[in-house]
Amino acid sequence: MAVTAVAIAVLASGRGSNLQAILQAAQAGSCPVVVTVVIADRAQAAALEIAQRAGVPVVQYIDPKAYENRAAFDVACGDLITKHACQWVVLAGYMRIVSEGFVHRFSERIINIHPALLPAFPGAHGVEDALHHGVKVSGCTVHLVDDLLDHGPILAQAAVPVLDDDDDANVLRVRIQQQEHQLYPHTLAKMVNQGFDLIGRRVVWRGGKG
Ligand code: GRF
Repeated sequence: MAVTAVAIAVLASGRGSNLQAILQAAQAGSCPVVVTVVIADRAQAAALEIAQRAGVPVVQYIDPKAYENRAAFDVACGDLITKHACQWVVLAGYMRIVSEGFVHRFSERIINIHPALLPAFPGAHGVEDALHHGVKVSGCTVHLVDDLLDHGPILAQAAVPVLDDDDDANVLRVRIQQQEHQLYPHTLAKMVNQGFDLIGRRVVWRGGKG
């Protein structure tokens, strides 16, 4: 039986390469999602242009400074997401910490990608922190968002070896992002095609195909 594509909202702040990977996979038919809303909190975010070019129906820059506080900004974003009936909220290089109200409004429906193997190296400098710590393997993590930073249940991870030549975090970041661009659409596809159960913190994929 063919699965019905799921409407998603993508929130981004920057380059938008993960958004692009999701859009491409959706277009190629390998990821049954419809990117319906793209919101950026920065006017210069390249993600806005990527979304426009791809014909995303609702592409909006929302200026955080126009709101009294983070919660009010998140209500505005949430209202747009709800208005367009998006089932999931996909954070892709979104540099804001979402408020508690937002997390509860879209409980277990917000997904994030982090450029390290959580729970190691959470926070804004995951690639640098892993490199400076001297790990031999890092990678990326797709996870559900909960009240704590980079903390929610893990949906998928991909490992990336750290090479002796990785003297600069940007070299490692490029290889991690190559993995991200595979892992993010792949995980979203699995969420639609297979579904999962949450057992405590554990994501257990249905159909026994972990
Ligand atoms: C990615 O590396 C992701 O792990 C992190 O922010 C970066 C966003 O890159 N959360 P892009 O905007 O998708 O190119």
